Amino acid sequence: MPSSPIGLASKLSTFSNNDFLSSSDLKSDQVLALFELAKELKTGNRRIDLGNRVLGLIFKKASTRTRVSFQVAMARLGGQTVDLNPQNTQLGRGEPIKDTARVLSRYCDALAIRTFSQQELEEYAEWSTIPVINALTDLEHPCQALADYLTIQEKFGKLKGINLTYIGDGNNVANSLMLCGSMLGVNVKICSPKGFEADSHIAEKAESLSEFGSKISICNNPLKAVKEAQVIYTDVWASMGQEEEHIKRKEIFEKYKVDQKLIGLADDEVIVLHCLPAHRGEEITEEALESQSDHVFNQAENRLHVQQALLAVQLGGL
Ligand code: CP
Ligand code: NVA
Repeated sequence: MPSSPIGLASKLSTFSNNDFLSSSDLKSDQVLALFELAKELKTGNRRIDLGNRVLGLIFKKASTRTRVSFQVAMARLGGQTVDLNPQNTQLGRGEPIKDTARVLSRYCDALAIRTFSQQELEEYAEWSTIPVINALTDLEHPCQALADYLTIQEKFGKLKGINLTYIGDGNNVANSLMLCGSMLGVNVKICSPKGFEADSHIAEKAESLSEFGSKISICNNPLKAVKEAQVIYTDVWASMGQEEEHIKRKEIFEKYKVDQKLIGLADDEVIVLHCLPAHRGEEITEEALESQSDHVFNQAENRLHVQQALLAVQLGGL
């Protein structure tokens, strides 16, 4: 049975027209309400037509899942997207963000931005009068974390008390997993080689958001870190923009590969997640990825459902 539109609307209405720049921009009850809405959209129990709304996509980095899931989400909400590739706009020729943001606010209803610095994203948000969504920066990937925790909730029927161990680079994905997981009651361990640990300020912020007794920890020993893990999560060792470090990182991260042996040390019911794209033979073996493909592709599919729910809320569709 669909949840009462009034119940969901009252939890989510405060987020209407808001930016989503960081996982910490949503509160735990809003995330859980968003998951309810996402599941209703996914099962077809609810339809929302925003009517001809337009999402602008500014992507300075490559993307398959994020770009296409935003495009499809808007199509399903009765709207559309416009591709504002910086190579084809005046942005590529140096037009300032403060002008671009004010102009695009007169044409579009929201902007999804993938770029390098979080500061640049914040500058767009400062000058835009429409909601701005973080479609990945070097610091965070908050839409990914929403899809990840929706997938975990669907699998285990709960989030509180779940143990998630992330193995690999302490990057944007790890940061958003800590922030979002902490407020949902998930115990999040980020296990990385020395010198590649997750941002300590983000870890402290995540701890300050902790609800339902969740614990956040940063560690270096993968064999110990996966003990009792119900979810093992990994991501590429060199993120977009770090390509020149790829060869060096392959040596440093060798012991942080998710393989059958590591998975065997975790909880009997463990699942493995990966935000994709995966580099088979590096952060995860072919066998480990293929044996977990149901979960990993459910996770990728959930990008569409959570982002559709997010856009519906931000654009006042409830
Ligand atoms: N996981 C993710 O964000 O994938 P894309 O880079 O393909 O968007
Ligand atoms: N950490 C990766 C995630 C890709 C979806 C990157 O930033 O390239």
